[in-house]
Amino acid sequence: MNNSHIIVSLDYAEEKPALELVTQLDPNKCRLKVGKELFTHAGPRFIEKLTDKDFDVFLDLKFHDIPNTVARACSAAADLGVWMLNVHASGGRAMMQSAREAIDKSSHQPLLIAVTILTSLSDQDLIELGITSSVEDQVLRLAELTKSAGLDGIVCSAQEVSRLRMHMGQNFKLITPGIRPAGYASDDQKRVMTPAEAISAGSDYLVIGRPVTQSENPLQALLDIEAEINVPEGG
Ligand code: C5P
Repeated sequence: MNNSHIIVSLDYAEEKPALELVTQLDPNKCRLKVGKELFTHAGPRFIEKLTDKDFDVFLDLKFHDIPNTVARACSAAADLGVWMLNVHASGGRAMMQSAREAIDKSSHQPLLIAVTILTSLSDQDLIELGITSSVEDQVLRLAELTKSAGLDGIVCSAQEVSRLRMHMGQNFKLITPGIRPAGYASDDQKRVMTPAEAISAGSDYLVIGRPVTQSENPLQALLDIEAEINVPEGG
């Protein structure tokens, strides 16, 4: 059984290098995230190749549209056999509830999570959008809306995890990118946390790209991260 906290982000433009990496990984030691670029290039058949290899797939397409359209897209994703998928919380309650109902009616039921405020947006950007709350407050507001619409969790920055965990309770999944193992360069990520820090702050799953995908030995990089997470505190 897969009880890994690590979701490896397949940030590739094409199927071939993505599959080259995947053949070096173990489906019991990680899950995989496929986003808009790779999905648009490689399509649903690629997702099936990953699920056929027994990988859990997080389909990161961030659906945002009218409720009926999002519900149908969620059903299509569930039919592909993905493990988790997401929508934009700013699509509103009716959109999220329609997504929830669509997943509940599917024969295969992935986790359904939401994106609150994109981490690329600042307080100033929100003002331009007519939102006067701070990013922090708006993230919390949308997290609460997500939970009350019956979704399973949210994607959030590791810096927000402890506050969100406190407000949202134990059963709400928190998925965090921006993770860097101790001693690894932060690349273009502005605020990073180590895997151990993010897990102890309350994160359920860590989205990790380059520290695994750019490693000479990706499986070893994964195992090292797993070991780092499992070291008892103070150990
Ligand atoms: O290589 P790296 O570990 O930085 O990759 C992180 C992954 O998580 C990328 O796919 C990136 O787009 C995604 N992500 C992120 N920050 C967010 C949301 C998603 O880094 N706020």
